[in-house]
Amino acid sequence: MKMETRYSIRKYKPEPVEKSLIKDIIDDMLLSPSGKNKKPWEFLVLDDPEVIHGLSESKKAGAGFVKQTSNVILVLSLHDESDTWIEDGAITLMVGHLKAHELGLGSCWIQLRNRESENMDSETFVREYLNIPDHYRMVGFLTIGYPDEEPTREKVHDYSKVHYNQVGGKYE
Ligand SMILES: Cc1cc2nc3c(=O)[nH]c(=O)nc-3n(C[C@H](O)[C@H](O)[C@H](O)COP(=O)(O)O)c2cc1C
Repeated sequence: MKMETRYSIRKYKPEPVEKSLIKDIIDDMLLSPSGKNKKPWEFLVLDDPEVIHGLSESKKAGAGFVKQTSNVILVLSLHDESDTWIEDGAITLMVGHLKAHELGLGSCWIQLRNRESENMDSETFVREYLNIPDHYRMVGFLTIGYPDEEPTREKVHDYSKVHYNQVGGKYE
């Protein structure tokens, strides 16, 4: 898997992704590292386009394209089971995003925590829409599909963000 060719993909072909490929992604997400190995997450896999369509309203901005998505994996975080549930949930999203790329699929992280829909916070929107019990929190979900765009934005290694031996130390 090459980071140089990884992009967030927001345009997908209409064909749904085969269940076996979604399982490959889930298999890797289930093996994600987590604080104290508590694995404070579960995953809700969605492949009903009508249901997925409604998720595009979970945010005021940044989720409109979800309408055209055929597959979604929602991370359900067991926030009472670990104080690292945010980090752990985020890592599973990243692992899923990278695995999708490895498989030639496109995916995009949709943030729910600390975000708003038109009338309520995004987590509450998804909780009510999908009947998610209160013992779960939701960092976000992944949209997944066959890419219908080829981003060409140049990838830059910005070494000004890297310090060498001490903060301010030049790294080159
Ligand atoms: C924490 C986090 C939240 C994100 N939330 C959204 C989102 O809600 N909607 C969206 O379209 N992209 C979202 N993204 C994708 C970013 O916009 C994307 O990673 C960034 O613009 C860099 O583009 P690239 O992934 O193609 O390199 C999110 C990414 C991260 C890591």
